[in-house]
Amino acid sequence: MDKISLVKARVAELTALINDHNFRYYNLSDPLISDFEFDQLLNELIQLEKEYPSLLELDSPTQRVGGEITKNFETVKHIYPMLSLGNTYSEDELKEFHERVIKGIPDEKVEYVCELKFDGVAIGIQYENGKFKRAVTRGDGIQGDDVTANVKTIRSLPLRLKDGNYPAKFEIRGEIILPRATFERINEERVDIGETPFANPRNSASGTLKLQDSSEVSKRKLDCFLYALYGDDLPFLTHEDGLKAATSWGFKVSNERKVCHSIEEVFDFINYWEKKRPDLPFDIDGVVIKVNSFSQQRELGFTAKSPRWAISFKYKAESGSTQLLSVDYQVGRTGAITPVANLSPVLLAGTIVKRATLHNQDQIEKLDLHVDDTVFVEKGGEIIPKITGVDLSKRKLQARKVEFIHRCPECNFELVRKEGEAQHYCPNTLMCPPQVKGRIEHFTSRKAMNIDGFGTETIDLFVEKGLINDIADIYRLKKQDILSLDRFADKSANNIIDALEASKKMPFEKVLFAIGIRFVGDTVARKLARHFVTIDELMAADATKLMEAPEVGNVIAASILDFFADPGNRNLIASLRSYGLQFQLSPEDTPVKVSEKLKGVSIVISGTFEKHSREEYKKIIEQNGGKNASGVTRKTSFLLAGADAGPSKLEKATEYGVKIIDEYQLLEML
Ligand code: IVH
Repeated sequence: MDKISLVKARVAELTALINDHNFRYYNLSDPLISDFEFDQLLNELIQLEKEYPSLLELDSPTQRVGGEITKNFETVKHIYPMLSLGNTYSEDELKEFHERVIKGIPDEKVEYVCELKFDGVAIGIQYENGKFKRAVTRGDGIQGDDVTANVKTIRSLPLRLKDGNYPAKFEIRGEIILPRATFERINEERVDIGETPFANPRNSASGTLKLQDSSEVSKRKLDCFLYALYGDDLPFLTHEDGLKAATSWGFKVSNERKVCHSIEEVFDFINYWEKKRPDLPFDIDGVVIKVNSFSQQRELGFTAKSPRWAISFKYKAESGSTQLLSVDYQVGRTGAITPVANLSPVLLAGTIVKRATLHNQDQIEKLDLHVDDTVFVEKGGEIIPKITGVDLSKRKLQARKVEFIHRCPECNFELVRKEGEAQHYCPNTLMCPPQVKGRIEHFTSRKAMNIDGFGTETIDLFVEKGLINDIADIYRLKKQDILSLDRFADKSANNIIDALEASKKMPFEKVLFAIGIRFVGDTVARKLARHFVTIDELMAADATKLMEAPEVGNVIAASILDFFADPGNRNLIASLRSYGLQFQLSPEDTPVKVSEKLKGVSIVISGTFEKHSREEYKKIIEQNGGKNASGVTRKTSFLLAGADAGPSKLEKATEYGVKIIDEYQLLEML
């Protein structure tokens, strides 16, 4: 065999191996190899595809990490309209549904398939010849958004089907969900940079699906359960057979389903899952009941909006009433004040609830809360319970209204509420203890400067003993200072000093994230660092310049300007710089300028190429002074089109008179 055939065989082998390990890990939860061994296989494939770009397939497992940027999701028409389901909330209504079904198929026995009703975002995914082709959101049911690049990052979805008798063309539908644990992690990160947290995993999943940068989506760990096949002449007689086949082709179909032969069995399934739902790692909001036989489904048909052969039974949010004891006010790292209700403990949806979030002042006023009120509490899709109302009949005569605080509960500073924002803030950024501690916690955290030894308790201790008052102070800590605290011995004190010293080498992007500019998360920090290269350039930029950086809009730009306008923050930067922290992109990350041949030229890349990968072309364009753009507009200079270039991009280029070039033409220009 010649070299290229050998490489080709290894690429095919690695692809099959990785796909299989992915399947075992994400669909079966039964991995055979360690994460390390898995990464080795993946890295080998990435390397080979880099060296031999012609061997890179669109459905290669290396494509899961994303990288494609979509500015505007293309609207596309559904091949099969995406209908919704009728809802019921009671056994009686469900019995009526059952009676309508029996009436529609007289003299026949009916079987139902009961499934979980996943609380996420509906998605339709088209496959052609066993390959993932396109993913479209529900939209208005007639047309939806093409979110292919983002959906491809979901590891449990096959990019290439396992062998089997799948139809050449079909669509599979399901629900994209975010496991609760991931949702909580994302929210912690959002709160950390001063963004409003998502209300529930569903919102978080739908927000994630609409992110422009698919490599960000890839990090969020979405998952997808499939529940219906669509195609012309599908070779199955029942829904259950379709689901079994889909499972064998490699799709993740929930095993928590049941073929029921009577409406009583359906009720049992519903009741079972109502109790068990807190144990699932993701949210469900009910059960879906579907007639199993396809011929019966055809006979029953559709109403204008939904099938007559299926219905959803929705669980009611569990609610109860209890007493409001008091309201606490929490102060976050960014100074945001969050009111929290302390409740007399009450059992809701299997857990004891003692606290409920009140969000902000407006919420308290809307509820017209009084201390000692009997309040209605609800625990629905949201993880944090909420107060939905007050039982006025039980209000005591002299009840005292809950008054929102005017001063910070931690430092007594007068609170402010910015125009257009619902949240109150404590403006005493420099001295308010939870803000100071929170900033240091954020600065030293794993995702930021990753300085070992600064746990919450240690930071509390340092701040309370007056050893540190702000981030820069940690670099002034001496071994003797640390040893003066009881809990530290020689070794642990040395460790802290060493960790601080080591952190001075952390790259600029980490420092930029660590200093805690509101709305600047790790991704934005990375992009800012690459765009501006030095902190001086960043600090000198005005709003227009800032918004030229990727992912920066007017909100982030304003926040950056605010941050650097504050003399305290400018001092902080100066101190940190004097301690030797990195305020400049490292040479490896700094784009080397090769030429200015593409100065003022903006290029959109689409499709796959032979000589270099798409990422390499992006770099080449930047190195020669050009700009990479994501969508074709009238201002685009060229569309660099490879094999399988997006049809809509080609169309737009033609419409706007944008010149379409291939990779050889580009290389010639250089
Ligand atoms: S079947 C013809 N099965 O609930 C409708 N839907 O209002 C076919 N959903 O839009 C839908 N879990 O987003 C079906 N096991 C399940 C489901 C499910 C969640 C969602 C889906 C649909 C909505 C129905």
